[in-house]
Amino acid sequence: MVGFFQANYNNLIRRPNGCDWWHSIPLPDGDRIAGAHNDHNVQLKLWETLHLSHADIAGKRVLDIGANDGFFTVAALLAGATTVTAINTPEWYTYPANLVFASQQWNVAPEVIVGDFQTYDFGCTYDVILFLGVLYHLENIFAAMRRLRSLLADGGLLCLETQMSQIESTLPIYEGASDFYPTVAKQNKEGLHVKGISNFLFPNQTAVLNLARSYDFTCERLRGAYTRDNSSRGVFRLKKLSE
Ligand SMILES: C[S@@+](CC[C@H](N)C(=O)[O-])C[C@H]1O[C@@H](n2cnc3c(N)ncnc32)[C@H](O)[C@@H]1O
Repeated sequence: MVGFFQANYNNLIRRPNGCDWWHSIPLPDGDRIAGAHNDHNVQLKLWETLHLSHADIAGKRVLDIGANDGFFTVAALLAGATTVTAINTPEWYTYPANLVFASQQWNVAPEVIVGDFQTYDFGCTYDVILFLGVLYHLENIFAAMRRLRSLLADGGLLCLETQMSQIESTLPIYEGASDFYPTVAKQNKEGLHVKGISNFLFPNQTAVLNLARSYDFTCERLRGAYTRDNSSRGVFRLKKLSE
């Protein structure tokens, strides 16, 4: 069996289960499911840019918010997490079919939830939350930060990845997504009534640092192959401070 965490692959496999894929997911025989991005290592690069150590993930309870096709869910389980809970809103029509397919390939068993993390009653806390590519899809990112804090155990780790505003300022700036003004990414107004499809706010670096401080997290910006290749994206490691 070929490893999950390797950049090389044999053949690109399109729609192995008859569905389109967002994530490019390795298969145990060395092939790779072809995701939407031209770079079929983009998810692997993001995983590596998170710089998760063995101590960060092994034996931990992980929540993957906006799990989508499940690259990061499967990765966390293969990296030694005790449990991984995947949640995604139902509007992503290939969820959870693709995530279940990928999990079966790698013989891992995440808990799979279809719902909105902002309102779903999880009934527990998590040691690690993966919050990748979700922040800018939310109408209220401040309430979301409060929610993320409440879902984390004391000392818990929040891995946050987001589209960034390119406005550099020593002040926290949130760029409003728009279809009419030349913002860093479009709003997609047609999708505003659908949860998790449109864009709302893109923070600059100071805004992320300030958001972390407001909700009592430490915050460190991370760099790696992912941010080198996707310069308008930001990756941050936040740690929940005690009450
Ligand atoms: C840009 S994709 C990112 C997918 C994956 N996390 C990654 O980084 O490749 C955003 C995902 O978050 C989901 N999503 C958006 N808002 C959500 C919410 N409130 N609760 C759960 N999932 C949400 C979307 O349906 C979509 O699958």
